[in-house]
Amino acid sequence: MPDWIRVCATSELFPGETKVAWDGDTPILVFNYDGDYYALEDRCSHEDFELSSGPFDAEEATIECVLHGSKFDVRDGRALNAPAYAPVAKFPVRVEDGVVWTRDDRG
Ligand code: FES
Repeated sequence: MPDWIRVCATSELFPGETKVAWDGDTPILVFNYDGDYYALEDRCSHEDFELSSGPFDAEEATIECVLHGSKFDVRDGRALNAPAYAPVAKFPVRVEDGVVWTRDDRG
């Protein structure tokens, strides 16, 4: 089982904010959506482009890829509009003693 990766302290990731952490070669984009934490691979499923360059809409719980405009639900990674159809990989998040952790659990 892969190790958990420390993202940041909860005090560094407020609602509406994001952080990128790396698990080996995998960039992981972590969201605070209304006090809940979610993690997706920081890589659009349409082409290999980092989602973290796009805007996180903290009302709609979406992240928009700036390259061609696909949006993804940050809670489960599903694609909401073309040209992306495949979901983005979703990763687990753990919060312990005021620290946010994630990991690429695809093995
Ligand atoms: S690379 Fe993200 S929508 Fe095309």
